[in-house]
Amino acid sequence: MTEYPSQSAGWQVEQRASEAYEQYLVPPILAPWADRLLETCEIHEGDRVLDVACGTGIVARRIAPRVGPGGSVTGLDINEGMLDVAAETAGDVSPPIEWRRGDATELPFSEAEFDVVSCQQALQFFEDPVAAIEEIHRVLAPNGRTALSVWRPLEYQPAYVALADALERYVGEDAGDMMRSPFPAWDGADLRTLLEDAGFDNVSVTIEIGSVRYPSVPEFVRREAASSPLAEPIAAIDRTVREELIHEVDDALDAYGDDDGIVSPMESYVVTAER
Ligand SMILES: C[S@@+](CC[C@H](N)C(=O)[O-])C[C@H]1O[C@@H](n2cnc3c(N)ncnc32)[C@H](O)[C@@H]1O
Repeated sequence: MTEYPSQSAGWQVEQRASEAYEQYLVPPILAPWADRLLETCEIHEGDRVLDVACGTGIVARRIAPRVGPGGSVTGLDINEGMLDVAAETAGDVSPPIEWRRGDATELPFSEAEFDVVSCQQALQFFEDPVAAIEEIHRVLAPNGRTALSVWRPLEYQPAYVALADALERYVGEDAGDMMRSPFPAWDGADLRTLLEDAGFDNVSVTIEIGSVRYPSVPEFVRREAASSPLAEPIAAIDRTVREELIHEVDDALDAYGDDDGIVSPMESYVVTAER
C-alpha cells in the first residue's frame, strides 16, 4: 500500500467551490469538452449565442471570438458564485459577455432572441429538464441551433465509480449520491426523445470518449472535493479516515495508474438539433 504524506493543509476549505471549479475542473475536463461541443455546432460571425448554465463561463469564453464584434454572447446560471468567477475570469474578452442570473427552466428572455443555445454538462442537474429544453426551443430563432452535452451513465466513468463508492463508505450516502449526480442513467434515445418532444428537428446524438488525468489519486480526491459541496464534509473527517478513503480509491484505480499519475476514460453524449 502506498504511504501518503499528511495532506491536512491541502484539505482546508480554503477557497470558494466556484473558484476551485474554475481552477481544478475546468482545465482538465470542461475546457477540452467545450472545444468538442463547439466543433459540433456551427457558430458564425454575428450570431447571438446563449450559454445556459454557464458555470464559470468556459463555453461562453470559447464562443466570444467566434461571433466577433457583430455578435453577442450571454452566459446564464442560477448560481451567483459561479457567475462572479465567470466575470472575473473572462476579463476583457471581446465581445464582452453578458452574465445573467436565472433559471434554465424559466429563461428570462423573449422568444427567438438567439441563433445558438449551448448547454454543457448541466441538463442533468435541472429539476425539470423537459421545461429547460422547451425553454431553449422558445428562445431560439427559426432555424436556430442548439448543442448540449450530458455525461454518459456512471459505469462509463471509472474514476468516478471508485470515488463515489469510497465517499459513500467513508463520508456517507449523500456524499456518494452527490458524486454520482453528474452521470444520469439516461441513454441516447432518452435525449433524442427529450429534444424531439420539444419540437426540435434534425436531432443528432453522438457518444464522445475522452479522458481525465490527475497527478495522483490524493490530488484527484482533493480537487474534486474542493470543487463541490463536499469540501466541508471531507475536510471534517478524521485524517486517518480520509487516508483510508484515498487508499480505497487508489486500489480501485490501480489499472489506471501510470508514470504521470492516473488517467481515466470519460464518456459523454453530445446532442445537436435545429429549431
Ligand atoms: C457542472 S456545472 C457546468 C457548468 C458549465 N456549463 C461548464 O461547462 O463548466 C453545472 C451548472 O449548472 C448550473 N445550474 C444548475 N441548475 C440550474 C438551473 N436550474 N438554471 C441555471 N443553471 C443551473 C449550476 O449552477 C452549475 O454552474
